[in-house]
Amino acid sequence: MKKIGVFTSGGDSPGMNAAVRAVVRTGIYNNIEVYGIHRAYDGMIAGDIHRLESKDVSGIIQRGGTIIKSARSAAFRTKEGRKKAYESLKTAGIEGLVAIGGDGTFTGAKIFEAEYGIPSIGVPGTIDNDLFGTDNTIGYDTALNTVVEAVDKIRDTASSHDRLFFVEVMGRDAGFIALRSGIGVGAEAILVPETPTYIDTLIQKIEKGREQHKSSAIIMVAEGDDAGNAAEVARKVKEKFDFYDTKVTVLGHIQRGGSPSAADRVLASRLGVAAVEALLEGKTNQMVGVVNNQIAYTPYEKAIKHHNKLNENLLRLAEILST
Ligand code: F6P
Repeated sequence: MKKIGVFTSGGDSPGMNAAVRAVVRTGIYNNIEVYGIHRAYDGMIAGDIHRLESKDVSGIIQRGGTIIKSARSAAFRTKEGRKKAYESLKTAGIEGLVAIGGDGTFTGAKIFEAEYGIPSIGVPGTIDNDLFGTDNTIGYDTALNTVVEAVDKIRDTASSHDRLFFVEVMGRDAGFIALRSGIGVGAEAILVPETPTYIDTLIQKIEKGREQHKSSAIIMVAEGDDAGNAAEVARKVKEKFDFYDTKVTVLGHIQRGGSPSAADRVLASRLGVAAVEALLEGKTNQMVGVVNNQIAYTPYEKAIKHHNKLNENLLRLAEILST
């Protein structure tokens, strides 16, 4: 293998740049040319492919976002789109891919490999942490720190006014951000899509806190919770229990930005190196992760089924600590 491509796809996450840097430098170390495919699968289709040298990835390890941009491609979901993408790669002479992203990214890479035989290794880059086969995804730690910092500030004002806050965090179908940051901020309740939410039970919890003279309550809500988003949950609670002055805060895309934490920079660097080494060893169709501090490879198929990953112990801990 002499030429490989790297791209960042799906929702961006802090640390993607560190991963791109690691891929480029590991390629160069192994006498391989590395090409940045801009705007993910859309750029692959359009042939927006450019050689990356060592200097191109200087000074980016600390930067949030992704210098080669990201996208969610509708065109790549079509056969014609993938054919064009293959033709672009052929023209550029690219023989293998490092795909940095989440489940949509890996689903695309898997189909592409089956149709055109282009080998690829996935690097988990998403703030959601919703991939099986790695303890943490790149960006998750930074996003958690962003949420904790923001909610600490909310707590200050919530306590001053005896208010009940519903704080919505990202995670369309995964509660990792809500659960871990909720524990980190001492939330009174944490609502995640993986477990059913009962409004009456939630009200009992809030009520109990009020009886114990708690001066505020923070309810962390994953955006994809089965009871609805934070505004909907707040409305349902307010209909039955109106003792607190209630506010809703949606943290939104602030969670996706910012300079990556030290943990994310190191994780991204390890995974970027391991991805290129895996391609050179002839591996394909797998995501590289870190499990128990060791590099691990998981087939795409398995990596995207994250649902048995939410930590039962953390759920139990959250329940104990919120009493
Ligand atoms: O997958 C990452 C993520 O940030 C999710 O948590 C969120 O639901 C989604 O992307 C938001 O996507 P967009 O930036 O396209 O609105």
